[in-house]
Amino acid sequence: MALVTLRQALDEARSGGYAVGAFNVSDVIQAEAALDAAAETDSPVILAVLAGTTGHGSDERYWSALHHLIGDYPRVPVVLHLDHGPDPDTCRRAVAAGFTSVMIDGSLRGDGSPAGFAENLAVTAEVAAEAHRAGVSVEGELGTIGGSKTDGSRAEIVLADPRQASEFVAGTGVDALAVAIGTSHGAYKFDAPPDGSVLHLDLIEQIATLVPDTHLVMHGSSSLPAPLREQNNRYGAELPESWGVPQEEKVRSIAMGVRKINQGMDSHLAFTGAVRQRLGTDPRNVDPAPYVGAGRDAMRRMVAERMRIFGQAGHASDYQPIPLPDMARRYR
Ligand code: 13P
Repeated sequence: MALVTLRQALDEARSGGYAVGAFNVSDVIQAEAALDAAAETDSPVILAVLAGTTGHGSDERYWSALHHLIGDYPRVPVVLHLDHGPDPDTCRRAVAAGFTSVMIDGSLRGDGSPAGFAENLAVTAEVAAEAHRAGVSVEGELGTIGGSKTDGSRAEIVLADPRQASEFVAGTGVDALAVAIGTSHGAYKFDAPPDGSVLHLDLIEQIATLVPDTHLVMHGSSSLPAPLREQNNRYGAELPESWGVPQEEKVRSIAMGVRKINQGMDSHLAFTGAVRQRLGTDPRNVDPAPYVGAGRDAMRRMVAERMRIFGQAGHASDYQPIPLPDMARRYR
C-alpha cells in the first residue's frame, strides 16, 4: 500500500480525531528516520519535501531514491508531499515524479513579496485543476506564514482572513488549507513563550466551521526544544534563544480542527545536534557512517515522540488499500 494521497490521510485523521505530522526531510537518511518512526509507532506519515534544498545531486535523483525507500515500508501509509511549491512548474515536476500531494504557495510572489488574494487564488486553482487530473492532492495557503531569515530576524506574517476562506476553497478546490495563525518557519520564532496574543488558534476554529470539507494545516510548528539548541551550541553552533510552538498548543489546535502539522526544524535540530556531538566527541573518526547514523537515530526518536503526541500513532493499520493516483503508481 505505502503511498496514499494527502486527501486520504487527512480524511482518515478526521475520522480518527487526530492530526498527521508532515516532517521535512532533505535527504534519504532523514526520510528513513521518519519512516522508521512511523513503522515503530504504527503511524501514517507525511514526508514533506522542499524543491531545491537537498544535498543529493538533483531533486529528481533524490525523489526517485525516495520512491525506492518508501517501497521498503509496505505497511506504512506514506504521503509524498511537495512542501511550499513556489510556482506551477515546480508542482508539475513533483506530480510527474510521483508525488501524491503538492502544496502551491501562492501567498508569496517569486521575489518574496506578498501576493494579492486574487493572484493567490488564480495560481492555486491552476495547480489544483492539473494535479487533481493526475489524482494528486493539493494544499494552498491563506494569509502568509512568516519565515526566519539567516540573520535571525523574521519575515512578515499576514494572518489568514476567515472572510476569504470560503471563496478561496470554492474557487480553488484545494484538499488542504494552510492557515497563517501567527507561526513562522525556521529556527528563530518567538522571543518569549507564545500565548494567545501571538498564536491565533481562534482563527483555526472560525475557518474550520466555514470550510468543513477542507483539512486545515498548521505550518511553522516546530517547538525548538531548548535541550536540542543547547546540544547544538555545546558542539559549535551559535543558535540564539528562541521559542517555538508548545506541544499543548499543537494538541489544542487538533481539537479545533487542524489535521496536518508541519514541522521540520525540530528534526534538523535533533539530527544536527547528534551529528555535532558525535563529531565533537570522536575527533579521530572520518567515516560518515557513525555520525550520520547518530543523526538518524536522534531524529527517529523525536519524530516517534511527536507521532504519539499528534495522535497518529496506532492508526496505520486502519487504512484500507486504495487505488493510487496514476503518476504515483508509475513511479512505485
Ligand atoms: P518549522 O520551520 O517550524 O519546522 O515548520 C516547517 C514548516 O512549516 C514547513 O512547511
